[in-house]
Amino acid sequence: MGNLQGKRRFSLCYTPPMTACHQLLEILADGRFHSGQALGDDLGISRAAIWKQVRSLKEMGLELHSVQGRGYRLAEPLELLRVEDIRRAMSSPASQRLARLEVHFQLESTNSYLREQESHGLDSVCGCVTESQSAGRGRRGRVWVSPFGGGLYLSLLWRFPQGPGEMGGVSLVVGLAVLRAFHSLGISGAGLKWPNDILWEGGKLGGVLLDVSGESSGPCSVVVGIGINLRVRPELMQSVDQPWVDLYTVTRGEMVSRNCLAGVILDRLITLLQEFQHHGLEPFLEEWHRHDLVTGRQVQLRLADRTITGTAQGVDSNGALLMDSGGVLCRFASGEVSLRVAQ
Ligand code: BTN
Repeated sequence: MGNLQGKRRFSLCYTPPMTACHQLLEILADGRFHSGQALGDDLGISRAAIWKQVRSLKEMGLELHSVQGRGYRLAEPLELLRVEDIRRAMSSPASQRLARLEVHFQLESTNSYLREQESHGLDSVCGCVTESQSAGRGRRGRVWVSPFGGGLYLSLLWRFPQGPGEMGGVSLVVGLAVLRAFHSLGISGAGLKWPNDILWEGGKLGGVLLDVSGESSGPCSVVVGIGINLRVRPELMQSVDQPWVDLYTVTRGEMVSRNCLAGVILDRLITLLQEFQHHGLEPFLEEWHRHDLVTGRQVQLRLADRTITGTAQGVDSNGALLMDSGGVLCRFASGEVSLRVAQ
């Protein structure tokens, strides 16, 4: 961060300026009724302008009620994301390692955002979280449905001295970081489907998207993107083509603090990526196998141009999937393939 000559300089703490929409939500976050008149007075805008902002919030995926004579309220109170609260949930070594953390109201995609900021001089280790994504990205070109407050949408930029070819293991380590964070918050029962789907009772609870760039001999930079379904209205998930679940269901209706979850995930992620950078995947393999949901099971592996069936045989020391297909042990690198449990 010190020598960004000729490039944009970044402060350690950045909160984007608040829009009227954001200010409105700060007031509505308590879940109580607020009249259009009172909201307009607080924000210094007309009642018609308030109505317009309410419409924008609905378009971002928030459930808002408006009742004649009482005003507007959120269907549920909402804990908004805040840099201080996220950092408070982190250990001080991890928080110090995180040079910069940004909280946004809406981004197209936290991964794309960090990548773009990197081209303007943003350095590792930097993170960002957002309340909603308008173009959230999943693996294999899928859309990651990202309604406002309905999920955790988080990315971290990390530079490795190694080349992209050695990043297969990062995928696996990120899944473990999420599971470790869950365990420390008392959330149990989740497991991993290679390379990094986070599943709970067969439904997808979260996913990881890695954007890797760099010279083949290294160094390389990785944007680690994590999406966790927190509390999502089923009608917003109609386009999702696989079984899914949210944390609200997993915890049987107990709300987990979003700031705390973001902080603990960042904390575990930073700790594990540091260890991976120095020692590779080897120290994590035993733990990964304990959480692996598919080894020994009949699976279908979808490649870009074909599908292979066989029995999953775990992963190798680079994080590649091993699969017994017709008596031949095959190896598949991470990032290019998807795995589906056979019917
Ligand atoms: C998957 O398909 O399983 C990966 C989903 C990754 C979604 C997260 S949400 C935060 C980050 N920003 C994105 O656009 N995608 C990732």
